[in-house]
Amino acid sequence: GSSDCLRGKRVAITAGPTREALDPVRYLSNHSSGKMGFALAEAARKAGAEVTLIAGPVNLATPAHVKRVDVIDARDMRDAAERAADLCDIFISAAAVADFRPASVAEQKIKKREGCDESAITLVKNPDIVAGIATRSERRPFTVGFAAETQQVEQYAQSKLQRKNLDMIIANDVSGSETGFNSDRNAVTVIDRHGNTQLPEALKADLARQLIEIIAVKAQK
Ligand code: PMT
Repeated sequence: GSSDCLRGKRVAITAGPTREALDPVRYLSNHSSGKMGFALAEAARKAGAEVTLIAGPVNLATPAHVKRVDVIDARDMRDAAERAADLCDIFISAAAVADFRPASVAEQKIKKREGCDESAITLVKNPDIVAGIATRSERRPFTVGFAAETQQVEQYAQSKLQRKNLDMIIANDVSGSETGFNSDRNAVTVIDRHGNTQLPEALKADLARQLIEIIAVKAQK
């Protein structure tokens, strides 16, 4: 229902993909649409929270009364997320952050080489945004991550919960095309130290409301 479960709380949410430039016209990215994170922002706002939505490049309208910060790459997203996390009670990482970026960005458009049928890109690790926030010793918000997996969904999510020091992780199976990336629907398992709760397939807007209620209860404790 439309509760006031986050009245007086400040919530920061990342959403969408990041884009990692290769040259002035090319980038590496993924299929995240931002829908899940935007639905969470709307649900959190309707539950009474003051919401900051840190969005990668997506084609979505900003939910009413939500503060939106647009970013392009993972390092921009990290900077915006760190600033928002300083002031928030709950941090939710729904973005699909590129784990790696090209080691260097070519100043000019990369050209094909005559007679050369192979090419390689050297990648370097991006900062882990949610882990940076969850491992803070001060001003640490209640921190929620997502796990997008194509196999062994719950096991991999469990290990991310622990490795990134999260309070909760929301696991989605993105192996099918009906749920997960870019779809309007999703099916998730909420995992924390106390156990698992499965939420059956539903519209992201409906799931977002359920997730916000669960997060509000757990963040109280
Ligand atoms: O945007 P949609 O089209 O609606 O799709 C929603 C979604 C499938 C993208 C979303 O529900 C989701 O699962 N987001 C996380 C996707 C992901 O890339 O997960 P991961 O397993 O790579 O990362 C685990 C967690 O660490 C996530 O909370 C991620 O935001 C965070 N992370 C990852 C890498 C990194 N460098 N920094 C991070 O903060």
